[in-house]
Amino acid sequence: MSSLAEQIAEQIESNRSALAHQSAFAPHRRRLTDLIAARAGGRLCLLGAGNCYDLELPRLTQSFSEVHLVDLDLEALERARAAEAPTVRERLTLHELELSGIHGELPSWRAMRVTPEALMAVPSVASKRIAAALPGPFDVVVSACLLSQLQLLLLNVLGERHQLIEAARQIQNLVHLRSIARLLSPGGRGLLVSDVTSNETFDFAKLAPDADLPALVQDLARRGALIYSVNPELLAFTAREDPFLAKSVELSPLRDAWLWQNGPLRTFLVCALELRCRR
Ligand SMILES: C[S@@+](CC[C@H](N)C(=O)[O-])C[C@H]1O[C@@H](n2cnc3c(N)ncnc32)[C@H](O)[C@@H]1O
Repeated sequence: MSSLAEQIAEQIESNRSALAHQSAFAPHRRRLTDLIAARAGGRLCLLGAGNCYDLELPRLTQSFSEVHLVDLDLEALERARAAEAPTVRERLTLHELELSGIHGELPSWRAMRVTPEALMAVPSVASKRIAAALPGPFDVVVSACLLSQLQLLLLNVLGERHQLIEAARQIQNLVHLRSIARLLSPGGRGLLVSDVTSNETFDFAKLAPDADLPALVQDLARRGALIYSVNPELLAFTAREDPFLAKSVELSPLRDAWLWQNGPLRTFLVCALELRCRR
């Protein structure tokens, strides 16, 4: 277990340490940018944008009328903006924002100083606060490999044996999905992009070059062999069962999956789910 402050500092350090690996991100960057640009038009909001190594910002600023970058690491956002040409730079709006919505709750959860009623109120209160802090609604909202980071922090701060860990995981997913839903304009589309497993637990070398990665994700999801909290089956269940989400968004079946080479040592299997705003 570690403190919240240590975890946030670690996140910011991890953004800094990724700086040397921009070129390794190229296929992932192309793939994610293609996916976003295929939904071009209107206002775009990128959650967890950080270094923006997974985004071709020149293309996105041409495809959307506004591009909003959101992260708790403002320095990373500023570095990303400074690296672009002035014509791109002027089209980017940066927002320093804590996107889990639950950091403020963690000390009392850790100490078990919380009532069931207070816990149940969190998804609504926190997602409303996040949406109100950004100038929505947006036509496209992208969560860029953020949810696994939010879940990892939770696990590291509470510990996997904490009595509230299961509830906390579900609450975090609810806050995140509801935040995306609240940020969308009528008919708008959210892309929930997640790293679902890595070469620490899966041997990607044994895959054929033309392996069907969406089918692989589905198979691993069914077998519970993905990072638990970002398993697409769990997220689909949450989107169906939560009354707010069921009424406001439709989660599409998985269509896209690819490999993300994150520096020389780490490879992630990434998949994308789409949330369509029903309004
Ligand atoms: C895995 S990185 C995503 C990759 C990133 N788009 C890039 O290319 O650098 C996750 C991002 O989420 C941000 N993040 C993590 N926890 C956050 C939080 N609670 N609120 C806002 N941003 C957070 C990190 O600072 C980091 O930039």
